[in-house]
Amino acid sequence: MKILIVCLGNICRSPMAEVILKQVVLEKKLPWTIESAGTNRYHKGGPADERAVRVCKKRGVDLSQHIARRFKTKDFDLYDLIYIMAPDVRDEMSEFVTDQKQWDKVKYFNDDRSQTVPDPWYGDESDFEACFSQIELLARKIADTL
Ligand code: 4NP
Repeated sequence: MKILIVCLGNICRSPMAEVILKQVVLEKKLPWTIESAGTNRYHKGGPADERAVRVCKKRGVDLSQHIARRFKTKDFDLYDLIYIMAPDVRDEMSEFVTDQKQWDKVKYFNDDRSQTVPDPWYGDESDFEACFSQIELLARKIADTL
């Protein structure tokens, strides 16, 4: 199973989800490949947000090696499942979609009514802590139910 996790900038939510889900999958010995990308190009080639790196380190996962990359249409061929972090990511992704089969691969990382993992980018470190906790719960749920 090849999974891509997508947010807007690929510096906060999706790279945190990538390293957290990788850790969960390692513990459960699941043969999954997990990567991440962002719909915008603003942070392409750069590291994860330093607050995300710090919170991950505090909680036992390494985000220091992340290099942000932009989502591309070819990713629909390269991955079995694409998890998105919020409805606005879906809106941005529509620019890359050329047929319904591609939409069929797209799921919300948070599948409750809000369909949202809130963006901590405009917040402070406590928002990153909350984001980590939410992602960790959701990652465990995904690994248990997929
Ligand atoms: P992310 O947060 O989507 O969780 O990586 C954001 C980071 C940067 C921007 C938007 C969201 N930005 O527009 O620069």
